[in-house]
Amino acid sequence: MDTVIIGASEVAHLSNGDSENGRIDGQLMLNRDMHVTEDLAIHIRDGKIIKFSSNDEMKDEWGIPSKSNDFQFIDAEGCAIIPGFVDAHTHLLWDGDRSNEMAMKIQGMSYQDISKLGMGIASTVSSTQEARASKLRQIGISRLKRAKKMGTTTLEAKSGYGLNLETELRMLQTASSMEGNGVTLHHTWLGAHAYPEVVKDDNEKRDWDRHLIDEQLPAVIKQGIATSVDVFCEPGWFSIETTEEICNNAQKNKLDIRLHVDEFVDGGGLNLAAEIGAKTADHAGYSSSDARAKASDAGVNTGFLPGTPYVHGDKLPTIVNDCIENNWKWSLATDFNPNCRTLSIPFVGSLAVHRMRIPPIAALAAVTVNPASTLDVDNGVGQLVKGGVADLNILRTTSADGWCLMPGDNPVKKSIHHSEL
Ligand code: NIG
Ligand code: FE
Repeated sequence: MDTVIIGASEVAHLSNGDSENGRIDGQLMLNRDMHVTEDLAIHIRDGKIIKFSSNDEMKDEWGIPSKSNDFQFIDAEGCAIIPGFVDAHTHLLWDGDRSNEMAMKIQGMSYQDISKLGMGIASTVSSTQEARASKLRQIGISRLKRAKKMGTTTLEAKSGYGLNLETELRMLQTASSMEGNGVTLHHTWLGAHAYPEVVKDDNEKRDWDRHLIDEQLPAVIKQGIATSVDVFCEPGWFSIETTEEICNNAQKNKLDIRLHVDEFVDGGGLNLAAEIGAKTADHAGYSSSDARAKASDAGVNTGFLPGTPYVHGDKLPTIVNDCIENNWKWSLATDFNPNCRTLSIPFVGSLAVHRMRIPPIAALAAVTVNPASTLDVDNGVGQLVKGGVADLNILRTTSADGWCLMPGDNPVKKSIHHSEL
């Protein structure tokens, strides 16, 4: 089917990035004129962009405004068009409710204090283990639909609230059964998210590490759904040594590495990510500058997740300004989880722009083309390019910058995934 989109005030195509993988980093992030074009109409065939031209040319070619059944015509009505968002770090599937933790945080307890009381991740693990697959699927689909309404067309979903082998496999299976809801999914096994409650001393931890490496990982590989492996590599959770062993075994089996690192302290996680060649190392609020430079040189992306320090009442990672200055590779994501319950990339964009002082188009690259480069995606995901898939958002605003300038509201009027065209 042919689809013609005309009438956009401007199109943020983000097509002038690095020629190898399309990323937009460093000073290039600040050059708005290279990434946004006025008077651009788009012709899409079977979900792929096949042509850009001026609005007048496109109207002449298709005889618009005459109505024809031969093609679908979308009028952007003077609003801006941007690529669909790529939310490359979410904990999509879990059951339960941890609202009670908020009062404890207000009284001064930290995330770690709450976790030591057996709450936090452990509490979500119990509710998730008890949930039936059909209930989890229903919850997941409703979350995907919410994310899509707010412009997300590609989403990475981590397991990690099953913890035991059976529930982890069930979570990956359930997530994979949710394909086809207008959002492309990527699946990550996060078996090393926390030690189960019954695992207490160092010996028991060592046994659990062996269980993850010798039993869970092979079963996940055999299942064939996850394409990446994640570890919560942080003092108090999984050590550098265990993380490295899990990752080495995963890489031998052609799985990509995406890590949680240096969220609360500099535990050397980003440095490890650089050494093993992870695709991305996320949180990274406390990593050293040396590790940041080393990671970027090794091609490792740092995924900042400002929603999480926001809900903790902590400072947001203003280090992103240094990333731009130093040409370090970075991106943004929601980190959707029971502790940080936002699936809104526009909200994350608002945090980046209004609080971390990043220009809107730089922040847009950080939620589209840059995270796309960390995933195995179809050509053109995170950009609007000829020959690429047509995942795009028509905004409610005339300026493409408006994507992140409506905190608490949804700036996306219509979100389109290529499978819908
Ligand atoms: O990325 N830090 C580790 N995992 C999640 C939080 C998990 C939870 O609190 O349930 C995160 O923030
Ligand atoms: Fe996370």
